[in-house]
Amino acid sequence: MHQPTLLQHALDDAARQNERSRIARELHDDLGGNLIAIKMALARLAARMPADQPDLGGQVQYIDDLIDRTIDSVDRISLGLRAAALDLGLAAALAWQTREFTRQTGIAVITHCPDALAYEPAPDHASALFHIAQEALTNIARHAGATQVTLTLHLADRHLTLSICDNGRGIDPAVRTRPDAFGLRGMHERAGALGGALSLSPAPGGGTMLTVKTRLAPPMAPAQNKKQNE
Ligand SMILES: Nc1ncnc2c1ncn2[C@@H]1O[C@H](COP(=O)(O)OP(=O)(O)OP(=O)(O)O)[C@@H](O)[C@H]1O
Ligand SMILES: [Mg+2]
Repeated sequence: MHQPTLLQHALDDAARQNERSRIARELHDDLGGNLIAIKMALARLAARMPADQPDLGGQVQYIDDLIDRTIDSVDRISLGLRAAALDLGLAAALAWQTREFTRQTGIAVITHCPDALAYEPAPDHASALFHIAQEALTNIARHAGATQVTLTLHLADRHLTLSICDNGRGIDPAVRTRPDAFGLRGMHERAGALGGALSLSPAPGGGTMLTVKTRLAPPMAPAQNKKQNE
């Protein structure tokens, strides 16, 4: 039988991921948007309800709770579809994430990322870096006023480094240590949990440079391998 080529596999994977991301987007944007419109319409209706029918108030509350739970489900399902991007490997997932970012914000991203890493990090390692990149890009969209972002993923001698640089207004140094900077704290904690380190510094020419340095777990020793196979 005809064997699919590597290129065919890659094209199939990319097509599947595009389909997943389209569904995630439609779920989040269309369905999520409609649910919010329904919630608002319900609030308007509730405001005009006759005061002498208190049992109707309970029913409105029930419908409102149901809408909230459905909004949560839509968020969870669309996030799950997006996280499935990691099935393609960290480099491909980050490339997909930056394309989505540009589509949503209009901010250009230059990526220096191999098509695939020579060694794939463990799933929790890949997922932590993916989430750090997500928070960094969200911060850039919300706070930086940047017009360009550069994302670099570099693996050398099992040291895996992710850096994300923007050409925006830069982070006020006082803000970096603010206790309510939960986004920044979360990124530091995720990097720390991997035994890595995250730093924020002024980017050359203005803006912010975020760097996460981590180390991949050593490959399994042959003796250990043997033991596991026994
Ligand atoms: N790339 C950036 N450029 C400029 N300022 C930034 C950038 N990233 C973060 N900041 C500043 O650092 C602050 C703290 O960021 P952090 O992610 O902790 O919180 P947040 O984005 O305000 O809220 P959230 O908890 O929703 O993430 C931001 O409010 C913003 O002032
Ligand atoms: Mg944030």
